[in-house]
Amino acid sequence: MGVEMKEHQPKLKEIASQCDVCAEFGVHEADCDSSTVALLRATGKELHSVDINDKCEHEHIKELAKKLKKKWVFYLGDAKTVQIPEVEFLFIDSDHTSEQVRGELAAHLDNVTKFVGFHDTGKDVFRGYDKAVFEVMDNHPDWEKIYHTEDSYGLTIYKRKNG
Ligand SMILES: C[S@@+](CC[C@H](N)C(=O)[O-])C[C@H]1O[C@@H](n2cnc3c(N)ncnc32)[C@H](O)[C@@H]1O
Repeated sequence: MGVEMKEHQPKLKEIASQCDVCAEFGVHEADCDSSTVALLRATGKELHSVDINDKCEHEHIKELAKKLKKKWVFYLGDAKTVQIPEVEFLFIDSDHTSEQVRGELAAHLDNVTKFVGFHDTGKDVFRGYDKAVFEVMDNHPDWEKIYHTEDSYGLTIYKRKNG
């Protein structure tokens, strides 16, 4: 899983390093090539990670956070309904359905102050997922697309215009 994220780690780090408080939806194994490790290393202070699978509250990430003197908070639950604090950067990589991402953005986008990023936004990587992301974000004129690649299943980053 991490292999497909490895190529995106530099971009995730570039964005997270401009923020003190980051969040991600979708943790999985949290190996060295993962979004979790990239975001935790680069964030100024905190990473809030959400996953529906209780096996994702990893001891090795707790240890890494301690070593880096950062705060890592794990939330068990559906990202559509879980409560997280206001964050500067939200990275979405959960179940990749149109319905899920629409629900996640409806619930959380107002509480994201600077950047929102999406993995797997390559053309039709998941049926209709890329189109749903672009449609929702295009309906928010306060956000602008600042990065998109089709590589490694796709990565798209938006920035809040006044963020
Ligand atoms: C593609 S993996 C995440 C990969 C990870 N970002 C990385 O860099 O390796 C997707 C994760 O999303 C989680 N997930 C699936 N549906 C979810 C939901 N509704 N809410 C929260 N997490 C969910 C899965 O349990 C899985 O761990």
